[in-house]
Amino acid sequence: MAGTVITVAQQKGGSGKTTVAANLAIGFRMAGRTVALVDIDPQGSLGRWFMARAEDDPALVEGMEFSTSSAWGIPYECRKLSGAYDVVIVDTPPKADSDLRPALRVADLVIVPVSVSHVDLWATEGVLDLARREDKKTLIVMNRARPGTRLSVEVADAASQLEAEIAETQLGNRVIYAEALGRGRGAAEAGKSRARDEIEALTEEVARHLANG
Ligand SMILES: Nc1ncnc2c1ncn2[C@@H]1O[C@H](COP(=O)(O)OP(=O)(O)OP(=O)(O)O)[C@@H](O)[C@H]1O
Ligand SMILES: [Mg+2]
Repeated sequence: MAGTVITVAQQKGGSGKTTVAANLAIGFRMAGRTVALVDIDPQGSLGRWFMARAEDDPALVEGMEFSTSSAWGIPYECRKLSGAYDVVIVDTPPKADSDLRPALRVADLVIVPVSVSHVDLWATEGVLDLARREDKKTLIVMNRARPGTRLSVEVADAASQLEAEIAETQLGNRVIYAEALGRGRGAAEAGKSRARDEIEALTEEVARHLANG
């Protein structure tokens, strides 16, 4: 899977793009892969996360790299980074317009986080459509899941109607995800926890999707 590019995209703001990008990065690092992160979102949250991490302890960013890029500069940036890192993860702004195209075009896999609500799910079609036009594999990741609630069941049902693969692993609605992000950490780094199990499982699942082409 050397030099594989994963783009995280979803039109709906706050669906968990940056959370998934950062936590997958840590998941892959914990699995021994080197990881480059590219942020094309002018909000710059992923960069804040990475800088907090690097300032805390430079050892925490060994085998990692971070850069920003314009929407149109992404192919060049990814080409450069994919030669040097096992995995390149691209975080994108909450949009599904033509600006997103280059980031989809370079991707080996497009991950679409869906915060468990109907409104979030409705917003998903835009990205799925664009990805389909670029002939890209997509993987929906249910985020902020609350297992056992009627909402979760309804949204999962509605999601299965979409023409897209849905990850078996769901990320629960857990404070540790928000806390860890603010401290430049991955939720999996705080010792044994449900969140760590989720991130390990999601990382494995994503790696499997990449391996299956
Ligand atoms: N599984 C989760 N459990 C708890 N909080 C979460 C979870 N996922 C995301 N959050 C919180 O929800 C907020 C939005 O998440 P995040 O910034 O990852 O979304 P985003 O899609 O990148 O947003 P934007 O569209 O603004 O870039 C953050 O405060 C984050 O900490
Ligand atoms: Mg974000």
